Amino acid sequence: MKKTFAAIQITILLAMLSLPSKLFAQSTNTVYLDPKQPVEARVKDLLSRMTLDEKIGQMTQVDKDAVINNKSDIVKYFMGSILSGGDSDIGDNKTVTWANLYDSLQSYALQTRLKIPIIYGIDAVHGNNNIYGATIFPHNIGMGCTRDTSLVKEEGRVTSEELAATGINWTFAPCIAVVRNERWGRTYEGFGESTDLVSEFGAAEIEGFQGDTLSGHMSILACAKHYLGDGGTFNGIDQGNTVDDEATIRKLFLPPYISAIKAGVGSVMASYSSINGQKMHGSKYWLTDVLKDELGFKGFIVSDWSAIDQLGSNFEDDVDKSINAGIDMVMLPMKYKEFYKAMNVLVSTGKIPMSRIDDAVSRILTIKFELGLFEKHFADRSLIDSVGSFSHRQVARQCVRESLVLLKRKDGVLPIPKENTRILVAGDHADNVGYQCGGWTITWQGKGGNLTPGTTILQGMFAAAPNDKIVYSENGDFSNTKADYSVVVIGEKPYAEGRGDASDLNLSKSDIDLIKKMKSYGNPVVVILISGRPMILEPILHFSDAIIAAWLPGTEGEGISDVLFGDYAPKGRLSHSWLKSMSQLPINVGDSVYHPLFPYGYGITTFNNSTKGSAPVILSAIVKKDGKHIELTFNKPMSDISLNGEDFKLNKNGLPIKEMIEPYIKKDDNTTIILSVSKGFADNDTVSVSYNSGKVKAADGGLLEHFEGFKIYNWVSN
Ligand code: BGC
Ligand code: BGC
Repeated sequence: MKKTFAAIQITILLAMLSLPSKLFAQSTNTVYLDPKQPVEARVKDLLSRMTLDEKIGQMTQVDKDAVINNKSDIVKYFMGSILSGGDSDIGDNKTVTWANLYDSLQSYALQTRLKIPIIYGIDAVHGNNNIYGATIFPHNIGMGCTRDTSLVKEEGRVTSEELAATGINWTFAPCIAVVRNERWGRTYEGFGESTDLVSEFGAAEIEGFQGDTLSGHMSILACAKHYLGDGGTFNGIDQGNTVDDEATIRKLFLPPYISAIKAGVGSVMASYSSINGQKMHGSKYWLTDVLKDELGFKGFIVSDWSAIDQLGSNFEDDVDKSINAGIDMVMLPMKYKEFYKAMNVLVSTGKIPMSRIDDAVSRILTIKFELGLFEKHFADRSLIDSVGSFSHRQVARQCVRESLVLLKRKDGVLPIPKENTRILVAGDHADNVGYQCGGWTITWQGKGGNLTPGTTILQGMFAAAPNDKIVYSENGDFSNTKADYSVVVIGEKPYAEGRGDASDLNLSKSDIDLIKKMKSYGNPVVVILISGRPMILEPILHFSDAIIAAWLPGTEGEGISDVLFGDYAPKGRLSHSWLKSMSQLPINVGDSVYHPLFPYGYGITTFNNSTKGSAPVILSAIVKKDGKHIELTFNKPMSDISLNGEDFKLNKNGLPIKEMIEPYIKKDDNTTIILSVSKGFADNDTVSVSYNSGKVKAADGGLLEHFEGFKIYNWVSN
């Protein structure tokens, strides 16, 4: 219908006349709309005005895909919350497109009778990772290795700014799982295996997200997840069962939540997993008695994606069990009509008391008021330019370089000189932003390739050392293999959640073969491992002169070249104990039997060489393919005059071997002693070496110290 000019004038006039009275009414009579009123009073006032349907709406969370084509259902069902799951995207996926989406969905919520804004949640778990062009930080496992809580707080702050630019006001982060078994596909989402570390890092990131006050213009709501015991499941099975006595469960997994509450976290997500067979989503004891009553958590609990579906005999039963256990908002994420129906039935039959509903809704509304959502409805577009900005990327780059853990280094190997150095680079992770980022990046599972703007490790190297000659071949095929260095970048391909559960943490055969091939060229080999967790290194230890665990560093590959070329010393220290073999899992600091390859907290934090005259350290040992030669490699050159075969004792399958051992220094590598044995070893022999005398010396005079049962990698079969 077209309005005449006169009609428009009348409309404007009427609007002007009603304006002052409306303003007046809002600021005096309508307590909940008055920002000057205390939050408690606003909640009480609003709650008293709400119908049951409106309350159910506040407890409803749908995925944006459930309403994108029927936005009027937001109004019809009074929806309180929308989320974007891991595979969520929109159009060109850029910030402004997300801001438009947010504003449009929010405008529907504002059409409801009471105009209660939605709260919009997303997994911004390492930066605002769903959005094209955002700054992607290292996943939490790497952040834990920085041992610097101010950095993770800064990550939270940057992420909140990049999120606020889209209007989205809630991140499902931090994951404060205490990860006890690296088989778990979500290992990288946690900061580490130690309760204390996780407590400190979780709280710091929450402070970063939420700022000094939730109503700050860049503050977003944090969500501590997944409550409780997600990282402790038997065999590291995702969504599995954590089995232990209650005292142990409390000691291991509860402190990060205590710290999170202290830091003011406004929401907590329940875990898919169970404790001693009881699903967390149905546990009144853990959700209500412990989290809300005992720990005094005042925010709201959101369920995980479709997680209530796992509880009961039918959907109504699922709703009954979860709401009565203490879930306040349900991530449905599609079944909002069923939820609306079930809730109405459960309330009318008295199975869910009104007091439970009022408690849930009050908690949600409290956070909405605290966030200032009733006052700021739409995205703050002045923040859009900050997304992926240079200064944000600089913060992420610092996080990358401080997260790197130097696991092994022979004297003199790193840093790589920036002048006149020929470097061969190989490996499929060297030039791949997607692999660097891992899961939860643009897509839920993550993927390889240029999925979002960033700097690959190779690009970072080119930028850091323009005067070096850097050549790259993914498969390690070079026409001229003579060089000063080889850098091999290998690791895991992206995954998320249960799809990353692993029964085998060995490197792929092609990665192992590539490292051996690069070593055969005779240049010092620096291995950079991109992975969401420690992996079995035994097969490559002997073929690498330096190894860096780089975790899942995100978009800023220059953080790696920063250390590689010595602009910064390595700093990271392990947030997980490093396994030798699968049979050791679970292996955690404090275990009564504890023989990791590298202990929790380990990390070489200097490029200084060993001091002159210090005892040489054995770094790796191998039975060569012929079964008759053993190589022992040390951190520095060894002296041949001191060698004596009788000083070394070899052990085969648990028994000492008696045959003659003839030792000599390897011709082209004086850090390696070769032990030649006449009878030799078969492919399935387990071999170790001990050293007992005190005469064998390094070239600089350092006396080799006694060692016992050093395991030798048997290459006869491999
Ligand atoms: C995950 C949560 C995540 C949610 C929403 C679930 O599958 O377990 O960590 O926040 O999906 O994407
Ligand atoms: C969603 C994720 C969610 C997962 C749960 C995916 O389709 O994108 O956010 O965590 O399903 O299974």
